[in-house]
Amino acid sequence: MAATNKQWIVENKDKGFDGLVYKETSIPQVGENEVLVKLEAASLNYRDLIIPKGMYPFPTKFPVVPASDGAGEVIEVGSKVTDFKKGDKVATLFNQGHQFGSIDIPATQTGLGGVIDGTLREYGVFAEKGLVKAAKNLSAIENSTLTCAALTSWNALYGLKPLKPGEYVLVQGTGGVSLFGLQFAKAAGAIVIATTSSAQKAEKLKQLGADHVINYKEDENWGETAKKLTPDGAGVDHIIEVGGAGTLKQSFKAIKYEGVISVIGFLGGVDPKTQPSVVDTLGHICTVRGVYVGSKALMRDMIRAIEANDIHPVVDEKVFTLSEVREAYDFMWAQKHFGKLAIKIC
Ligand SMILES: NC(=O)c1ccc[n+]([C@@H]2O[C@H](COP(=O)([O-])OP(=O)(O)OC[C@H]3O[C@@H](n4cnc5c(N)ncnc54)[C@H](OP(=O)(O)O)[C@@H]3O)[C@@H](O)[C@H]2O)c1
Repeated sequence: MAATNKQWIVENKDKGFDGLVYKETSIPQVGENEVLVKLEAASLNYRDLIIPKGMYPFPTKFPVVPASDGAGEVIEVGSKVTDFKKGDKVATLFNQGHQFGSIDIPATQTGLGGVIDGTLREYGVFAEKGLVKAAKNLSAIENSTLTCAALTSWNALYGLKPLKPGEYVLVQGTGGVSLFGLQFAKAAGAIVIATTSSAQKAEKLKQLGADHVINYKEDENWGETAKKLTPDGAGVDHIIEVGGAGTLKQSFKAIKYEGVISVIGFLGGVDPKTQPSVVDTLGHICTVRGVYVGSKALMRDMIRAIEANDIHPVVDEKVFTLSEVREAYDFMWAQKHFGKLAIKIC
């Protein structure tokens, strides 16, 4: 075993990406309920970029090892660990305290890479409850993309009102959450309407199985356009809402009566003055649901579905190494990526 452990640290929330520091430390000791993992890959989420910028709305602590998403191999287990053994391939759970059912207040304070040290390091000790067995059909890089974006999308489609074959799903943009939404929806036999700002990305969306693609920059009224694409113009059953104030208005135009808008992100910003109000849910007879990643039980369901359908996450062709994490943050902030942006660790 190597004697040192290279890792990234976010020192505070005031310096932006300059607050990211690459350090050499020692390999942590394993407690009785803990597992030592040699991390093989990690992937980034928009959330990882906004933590050092002080823009993340959930609990954080500083200094913290950043990033929630990771996959690797078990090197050592504590004396009371029963679910894992040396050599197992594992992936990390986002909210380590969210084991099953509804999330509670304590579990919202157990986010990996926010409150608990995350995955941008060579070796990490994790609580046994904070790991899952990796998907057998996926590489380490692919497995490292499942923790946050994939599980959030799965929770949106299956956590409240499970998606049915033949239903319509709308996904926004070509980020990690939306592309998982597209892949899960297609595997379930749903019809997918995808939006993007780029003609080039539209082609890639079609290759991934999107049935309809709308350019949201060219068609500002894309919500109505999406609705017209559904049978009898009745609307879309599920919307993966990642845009925030700018997109929510259009999502209301697209949603079907009794459909579900899963509010996941706010890439386009938040504006209480212009965004729709709670009363709009009555006007459109729909459910608008905030989603915060998902439980370990949901993650296991998702991994079973990924294996059964041989779904492979969309990973940007540009893969960074652990020492290049700063460059990876800049690349993702500039929205140069398509799907997940991965970091190869070993
Ligand atoms: N609630 C949760 O549990 C949870 C979990 C994961 C992520 N999130 C949030 O979900 C959002 C998406 O995450 P992600 O990891 O998928 O992000 P990402 O990979 O950074 O997504 C970037 C893509 O989103 C699209 N986009 C940007 N602004 C947009 C806008 N105004 N309208 C529509 N699309 C827009 C762009 O697609 P095109 O280039 O194709 O236009 C862009 O390439 C973030 O806000 C993130 O914080 C929340």
